Parts: sequence; C-alpha cells; structure tokens
Amino acid sequence: MNKNCRICGEKLTKIFDFGKQPLGNGFLDEQNFKDEYFFDMEVGYSQKSFMFQLINQPDPKKMFHENYAFFSSTSNHMKNHFKNFYQELIDSEYKIEKNNSFVVEIGCNDGILIKNFSDSGFKHLGIEPSLNVANVAKKNNINILNSFFNKNISEKIIKNFQKVDLFLAANVMCHIPTIVEVVSEIKKSLSEKGIVVFEEPYLGDVIEKNSYDQIYDEHVFLFSGHSIKYLFNIFDLELIDMKHQSTHGGSMRYYLANKNQYKIKESVNLFLNNEKKLNIDNLSGFDAFNNNIKKSKNDLITILNELKAEGKKVVGYAATSKSTSILNYCDIDKNLIEYICDTTPIKIDKFSPGMHIPIVSYQHFLDNPPDYAFLFAWNHQNEIFEKEHEYRKLGGKWITHVPEVKIF
Ligand code: TYD
Repeated sequence: MNKNCRICGEKLTKIFDFGKQPLGNGFLDEQNFKDEYFFDMEVGYSQKSFMFQLINQPDPKKMFHENYAFFSSTSNHMKNHFKNFYQELIDSEYKIEKNNSFVVEIGCNDGILIKNFSDSGFKHLGIEPSLNVANVAKKNNINILNSFFNKNISEKIIKNFQKVDLFLAANVMCHIPTIVEVVSEIKKSLSEKGIVVFEEPYLGDVIEKNSYDQIYDEHVFLFSGHSIKYLFNIFDLELIDMKHQSTHGGSMRYYLANKNQYKIKESVNLFLNNEKKLNIDNLSGFDAFNNNIKKSKNDLITILNELKAEGKKVVGYAATSKSTSILNYCDIDKNLIEYICDTTPIKIDKFSPGMHIPIVSYQHFLDNPPDYAFLFAWNHQNEIFEKEHEYRKLGGKWITHVPEVKIF
C-alpha cells in the first residue's frame, strides 16, 4: 500500500474510500467473472505537493495491454478537438515548425492527436504501451514505439533521433504512477527551447461538478495548476500557460518549458488564484466533495429504485470507464440498469466490470429504446444529444449525476 505521495514522499491524507473497485476498462466475458480483479480504491492528498492521487493503484500492466478497450477516435468531437489542438500549437509563438521541430507524444493511443503532425510531414514519434491501439496508429502511418515512456525509451530517442521540441500528451500523464521518472526523462530529452504540452481532466472541475467518476484505477492523479507546478519545478521546468478545455467534462491544458525561456502567461496566476478560492491548494476543499459524493449515491439509488417500482425500463448510454466507478460505488447492477449500449466493438457482448451489466451494441439501443437512459458519457453530452434527438422526441429521458442527480 502506497501511503506516501508519489511526488514528494510525504504522508498522504485520505480523502475518500470508494471500497473495492474493478478495473475501469475491465470489460469481461462471463467465464472470467470468478477471477475478476478488484482493488481498494481510496484517494489521498498531499499538502506539500498538492497532488490528489489514488492511494493504491493496480499494476499498469493490468490496465494497458494488448486488449486495451479505449480507442480515442470513437468520438468525432474529440477528432476535431485534437485537430484544433494541433492548429493552436502551429499558430503559437513556440515555433513549432514542420521542417525543424521533432514532436513526441507520450501515450498516443490510436494516433488521434499526433496524426495531425504526421499528416503534415513533421518528424514525429508516438509512444504507446497498448499494442492493439498502437497497431491502429501504425496503420495510420504514425511512427510508433510500443512501450511505456521511461528511461530506456528516452535514451533511445536522444541516441536515435534528436532532442524533442514538443512533448505532447492527452489524458495520459494522469495515468502514470511513475510520473516523477517520466518528468525527469522529459527534462533530459527536451531541447532548450522545447515545450511540453499536455491536457488532463482537471481537479477543479471534478470538485465543482462532483464528477467523482473521474476517479478510477487508471487516473492515479487528478492534476491542478498547483500540483503540476510543484512536480515540474523539481526538474527546473516551469508552468508558462494554462488553458481550460471542455473535454472529458473539464480538462486543463498545461504548457511547460525550461526556466526563463518564455514569459509566464497571466492565465497561470488566474488559475492558481481560482484554485486557492476552491481551496484545492489545501485539505479543506475536499470536505464538501466528500459529502457530495455520498449524497449523489443516495439520490441516484433512490431515483433508480423509484423508476424500477414504476416498471420503467432504464439503461446505460456508453460503457465509459467512468461508469465503472459509479456502478460499483453505488452498487447498481442489471436489476436497476438493464443494459449499457456502446459503439466500441471490443466492449460489445461483454459485461461491465464488477457489476456485470451486459454491454450491447448501439443498434440494440435503437431497437430497444428505454424510458430512461443514464448518460454515462455525460462529457460527450452535446455530441450525443445531437445524435439522439429522435429518442428524445419519442419521449425518452436522460439521467445524469453531474453536477447533481437529475432526470432531464
Ligand atoms: P469517454 O467519456 O471518453 O470514456 P472514458 O470514461 O472511458 O474516458 O467515452 C468513450 C466511451 O463512450 C466509449 O466506450 C464509446 C462510448 N460512446 C458511445 O457509445 N456513443 C457515443 O456517442 C460516444 C460519444 C461515446
């Protein structure tokens, strides 16, 4: 059990205990129910490094492997988002140029972001530990190393390529328990004027929206400006800009560089001050969060039981990793949610981690429309509502738990 902060080594203060949880993306077949893996999911906070983190995390090899169930490119909205991300970097003052800059993405998944650089002829490299998604990226003509990013890989990069001008990551850094080693290797392989840009679910949003479902095995950390500043400062890298994003229910894009290379943007102070107002730079910010999680569970179970008593058909929409935390923490099984539909082929005909609710195809949802659909992919609400106006027109209703449990 890791009772100490992975960043500064100080003792963690426990914030919340979610009990036994399976792997967020551990969709499984019936024959594997009996050996399903569970871990004690508790979150803690370090008052020194400001880092919000899981106290225990399963071995990353259990989570990121040849059958990883998450393909980034399942959302069109995310494809556009990453295209815009690319364009913003190209247009920035950091001189990201196709003839000069070497771009490396850590955890590039199926290539949704780095594809924009490879398509434009940039010298690039994607590093991805999960073989199945890495193979999709390869098919998209992306240069790939199938590995975790570590000392060996960074030495290989320096030896075989050149120093990195742009390090990218999206929804990856918060997955890496050995992040101190990763940042140390980033520092060694970053060119003098190079920048590190990554975006991850933002702790400020999780607290404000009570989106506790962002806490699952893969998210070993939930970052804030305070914790990122502390972590990168260990290696003389400074936080030069922060940009809030609407993706994943509220994310933050962080920009870091070697000290004194670029002017620190005003946004950094603005966000740091806002974090102070939210009290996520100290323990008191988590008291209300703690109560809100418990209230959310109560409200959700009450609503689902009422709907069941009324004989309503209730299903889940999108088998997200996030849904695993809600279902297991709230102890919701197929008696309350008949099925969960999803568009990812690898998840279909499997069962949800822990609670074993059947995962069915999107077509099944269209053929068997429910009275109520729990929007597990609440972060893709706009995209999904556009697609589902027919469901709505026929009287279908949605359930959400963010920022509080409600039917709409
Ligand atoms: P996401 O919120 O990115 O998942 P996670 O919590 O795992 O990070 O949602 C991705 C999942 O949602 C993926 O399994 C596909 C599914 N999905 C649908 O089934 N239909 C949709 O319209 C969208 C946008 C996603």
